[in-house]
Amino acid sequence: MSKLFVMDHPLIAHKISMIRDVNTSVKDFRELVNEVALLMGYEATKDLELTKTKVQTPLAETVGNVIEKQVALVPILRAGLGMVDALMSLIPAAKVGHIGLYRDHETLQPVEYYCKLPTDIEKRQVLVLDPMLATGGSAAAAIDFIKQRGAKKIKLMCIIGAPEGVAVVQKAHPDVDIYVAALDEGLNEHGYIVPGLGDAGDRLFGTM
Ligand code: PRP
Ligand code: URA
Repeated sequence: MSKLFVMDHPLIAHKISMIRDVNTSVKDFRELVNEVALLMGYEATKDLELTKTKVQTPLAETVGNVIEKQVALVPILRAGLGMVDALMSLIPAAKVGHIGLYRDHETLQPVEYYCKLPTDIEKRQVLVLDPMLATGGSAAAAIDFIKQRGAKKIKLMCIIGAPEGVAVVQKAHPDVDIYVAALDEGLNEHGYIVPGLGDAGDRLFGTM
């Protein structure tokens, strides 16, 4: 069974409350998603491998550490785009793939419309990015695509998760650890996370 990491940090809790607030502007929402993704990135990258390297300080030569080119970020379009800049600023050498999925509003089933992934994805630690893990259908389908292209090491990072979505992803992909900034109560009859934050894509891009 995969592990579920629920962030436990006052900075994240404070920012999540602002993200939830219906009165938060599009600009502030976007900045807050970026900031929470950055803070979560610290946790989700804890086990990246380090390679030893020589470093010359002004005083002496010493042994330093580098993270080699080993990460691929895969945002689920479109809301996942809101988390990319934060992770890119932490790991500038990361490659970025994109998966386009939207939930059919009637069936709540994910519909694919785009998939472009790094060609060497099988060698990389993949971080799948999507602010919302609701029914889990989109994340489970995205991870299916990524595995079909050969990826072996995958983690899922979401700002808000519902227990239903966590269970679906854990059942479909027991090898994929999940990181959420907050774990909410559940889903309403329309498949929205409650209390949640509403529609993440709309709030990021101002399409309400
Ligand atoms: C949202 C969200 C996830 C998905 C979560 O995207 O960003 O991708 O719903 O729901 P699920 O867990 O029930 O599949 P949406 O379909 O609204 O598309 P958008 O990002 O283009 O707005
Ligand atoms: N997608 C969203 O953007 N929000 C939800 O609450 C559920 C799915």
